[in-house]
Amino acid sequence: MTHSRRDVLRGGLGGLALAATAGTGALTRAQGAGGRPPFGAAVNQWILPKEEPYRAAIARHCRLVVSESGMKWDQLRPAPDRWDFGPADELVEFARQHNLGMRGHTLLWYDSLPDWARAISSAAQADREIKLTIDRVVERYGAQVGSWDVVNEPIEDLPQRGMRESVWYRALGPGYVDLAFRAARGAAPKAELVLNEYGLETADEGSRVKREGFRRLVRDLMDRGSPVDAIGLQAHLSGDRPIDREGLQALLREFVEMGLKVTVTELDVNDKMMPGPPELIDALVAARAYEFLDTVFAVVRPTAVLTWGITDRHTWMPRWNARPDKLRNRCLPLDENYVAKPFMSVLRHFCDVG
Ligand code: G3I
Repeated sequence: MTHSRRDVLRGGLGGLALAATAGTGALTRAQGAGGRPPFGAAVNQWILPKEEPYRAAIARHCRLVVSESGMKWDQLRPAPDRWDFGPADELVEFARQHNLGMRGHTLLWYDSLPDWARAISSAAQADREIKLTIDRVVERYGAQVGSWDVVNEPIEDLPQRGMRESVWYRALGPGYVDLAFRAARGAAPKAELVLNEYGLETADEGSRVKREGFRRLVRDLMDRGSPVDAIGLQAHLSGDRPIDREGLQALLREFVEMGLKVTVTELDVNDKMMPGPPELIDALVAARAYEFLDTVFAVVRPTAVLTWGITDRHTWMPRWNARPDKLRNRCLPLDENYVAKPFMSVLRHFCDVG
């Protein structure tokens, strides 16, 4: 890590003494105001030290942040005995400096794994590496992070059904999810532990089947007494497909009856198939976001609402969903010049936004 990046963010890091001091910081601004959940966003920390307007937009609008990629295994554990906390440390320091809360993403996922982890085959090694990673990461960031995505994306997409085939599922069977939650509870007794998933919101067969697979997994975990506190709705919404209000609300009601909370973890709207010009896209994106948040809030108040990025200038969307008309994707609350769009007004309606 170059000193200039560090100085850009804060001028001298002072090591991670923050752990001792910042416990409360994890929650201060992340509790929302006026009964509305706090708003936050995913941060790309390769951009953070480079662009002042990016830092300013996050510090101004967000109550909490989550690392877009810095707390994933491929970043944290390039080799079995080598750890790289650099990018994650910087975001934690930025959050502390701006009194922002934090979510942790993600302690266990089938993707973004280093090759050595993808090669794990024995149950004993899988068990050991999962527990070691959770212990080390929570030990380092537990004071700043109030909510963890413990397991990310455990359910398959059509044509597959049920639990996703992964290195963890192959090595440990379906019990790997419960194992990860028990390890996380041991390491972070007070944190919100979240089971995070995408593709649960939309009115189509794929989403209906996924909701059913996810519901069964959650029911099984709760029957086992697994320490799951909340469900994470990623909410990467489709611009061209409506929200399944009835289907999603039935699922949320069941989770609430199980004593679970709900959090919105990665909201954005895929505008690939939405008609231009930009003003029309922005209106349709805001309408889809409103439809989704209104559907959720009618059943349960999320513990937080985060978008997956904050500006169209820096988003994952074009990597998989570039618009055929070559217009920039307009999937987030601020445009590429950090100007607020109607999407931001929708967020202000439901959430505590800076
Ligand atoms: O590690 C390199 C770094 O060395 C390099 O300097 C930097 C330059 O951009 O890139 C770094 O890695 C990339 C990282 O994004 C940072 O931008 C990875 O190669 C790339 O795979 C990674 O993609 C992320 C992807 O998850 C896979 O982890 C996307 O940004 C991120 O938006 C996406 O997020 C996922 C959520 O975790 C789960 N839900 C779906 C969501 C969107 O796919």
